[in-house]
Amino acid sequence: MIPKETVDKIFDAADIYDVVKDYVNLKRAGVNYKGNCPFHDEKTPSFVVSPAKGIYKCFGCGAAGNSVKFVMEHEKVSFPEALKILAKKYHIEIVEEELTEERIQEKQTIDSLFIVTEFAKNFFKKTLHETDEGKNIALSYFKERGFRDDIIKKFELGWSPQKRDALTGNALKAGYKLQFLTETGLTIAKENDYQFDRFAERVIFPIHTLSGKVIAFGGRTLKADKKTAKYLNSPESEIYHKSNILYGIYFAKNAIVKHDKCFMVEGYTDVISMYQSGIENVVASSGTSLTVEQIKLVRRFTKNLSIIYDGDAAGIKASLRGIDLALAEEMNVRIIALPEGEDPDSFAKKRSSEEIEKYISENEEDFIRFKVDLFAQEAKNDPIKRAQLIKDIVKSISVIPDRIIRGEYIRSTSKQLNVSEEALYWEVTKILRKNFEDRRNKHFGETYKQKPVKPELPVKTDGIYSETIEKDILHFLLKFGNEIIEIEDADEKISVAEFIISEIKNDDLEFHNLIYKEIFQDYESYFSDNAESVQDYFLKHENEKISKIAAEILGPIPELSKIWQIHGALNNGDEKHLDELIPKLIDTFKLKIVQQKAEKLKKQLAQLQRSDTYDEQLNRLLEELKVFDSLKVQLTELLEKTALL
Ligand code: CTP
Ligand code: MN
Repeated sequence: MIPKETVDKIFDAADIYDVVKDYVNLKRAGVNYKGNCPFHDEKTPSFVVSPAKGIYKCFGCGAAGNSVKFVMEHEKVSFPEALKILAKKYHIEIVEEELTEERIQEKQTIDSLFIVTEFAKNFFKKTLHETDEGKNIALSYFKERGFRDDIIKKFELGWSPQKRDALTGNALKAGYKLQFLTETGLTIAKENDYQFDRFAERVIFPIHTLSGKVIAFGGRTLKADKKTAKYLNSPESEIYHKSNILYGIYFAKNAIVKHDKCFMVEGYTDVISMYQSGIENVVASSGTSLTVEQIKLVRRFTKNLSIIYDGDAAGIKASLRGIDLALAEEMNVRIIALPEGEDPDSFAKKRSSEEIEKYISENEEDFIRFKVDLFAQEAKNDPIKRAQLIKDIVKSISVIPDRIIRGEYIRSTSKQLNVSEEALYWEVTKILRKNFEDRRNKHFGETYKQKPVKPELPVKTDGIYSETIEKDILHFLLKFGNEIIEIEDADEKISVAEFIISEIKNDDLEFHNLIYKEIFQDYESYFSDNAESVQDYFLKHENEKISKIAAEILGPIPELSKIWQIHGALNNGDEKHLDELIPKLIDTFKLKIVQQKAEKLKKQLAQLQRSDTYDEQLNRLLEELKVFDSLKVQLTELLEKTALL
């Protein structure tokens, strides 16, 4: 028996489009998707998938159902087996359980909570529309706020009477158990059998699930005094998990799919006013900062999330953290700041949907740009704030899963903040690496924690140390080893790998860093027979250190040394550049080695002891030094021309 929570989790995760698209080639058709039916033979598509409804339907053969049904039919498996297949797809763990007496009870509880909530919703609606108190106090209030009748009905707004126990008394009389009234938070029970309504004397905003069931309420007081909380909300319960739900999602989902976009506002009244003005793809986080679950809920319908804020910056800043979560879900997040003093409610009320749309299209700003702008001014003359800002932006950028999009943000942020792209890349790389290591540590547990692998910081070069260039050489070998280059002087065509290997071997050049040396030697012997699979070979190398370095080199943002940065275009394997660059790379390597040798000779000279062979040794060292010094001059001249030093 698969526990109910797990079944719910699987249903929640198994977005119909996401499931079906693994089996059927789907094309967008308005709010739906269309494809050739997998259940019967057809040439023109009559198989429709509706993300908003969570179902598929074939107008040819009549097959229809939800995502689990789809898997059952397609894979010809039972219900539990289909659940298991989907659980696997969405990495949901299934721990099966016996259906105990306790579980049966629990399931009944949940059903009972739904029933009580439904009763309360109907009670609140009825009092709003059918009692004098409701009509005089609450309905007139909604009207005054400009809510239309059809909208009041649609959102199922209500009124909880002034009488302290109106709902509770009615519910008990109708046979509903006190236990369920208190568990949903509708009733607050004190000792001595004294019970009263949580929402007494408030207008009611029911909160609907994706499928339209009411699971909780928000209640607004009509009193203006500061002592009364403006809103009261249902507490968490077995059926209401605040962080999993967005206010308005049930009414918005069709429009979200249709416009491939979702607006996010702050509160109940914002949603309702926007909706009434014709902007129906709108939901609210209800005054809390966004959660991953809420983002994923939106993500089922669209990638495009636009957050509408009232002009005050404090509100925006409070929500920034939630927005990073959205970026991490590969959403395109945009921000719309409203004119001073307006909130979405007041803003929408005064405008037609055309005017709203016009304002949005003119004022919508990409989130990261917005964030930079928001802080850049105040950070301008304050180095500490500025550093903090850069760190913050970099953090936002680093959660974006797509490397190319990250790159674009780095470029634009670099311009906006006047920071070099390299510095931003480096900061992003650090975060990515740290995240990677955290994940790995979490995954492998203590064994890794005991011997933490230090992130590789850029090699501090004292001008002669060759490690950075050694890594660059490996970089070119791994990335472009198979590219053919034309060497100017030699008038020959040769692969990058062959050229580098022969240069290094002919001049007996030695790698300084032992692990790089090992990679080079391994590369040399592997490449000759297996040129095509060389990347794969190193990525899966049995030596973990080697595979890690290969992954860094071939990974999303390789650590870059100067040469590499200058020729950033090389990322695409631009051969024309390679023709020039590869020989220079090797010359630079030679220069580093020559410099190292010269330094070593100088040290030896300084330490030379008086002995019988003193003069002989001195002359030999000086001779050698002369050779290296002249080599140094030659190479330096050669390289200076290309500004690579
Ligand atoms: N909120 C809440 N509890 C509060 C205050 C606010 O749950 N004590 C949530 C509600 O979802 C509310 C939203 O935060 O809708 C935004 O708060 P606010 O701007 O104060 O309310 P409005 O929706 O603008 O309500 P109104 O226009 O009626 O004042
Ligand atoms: Mn308001």
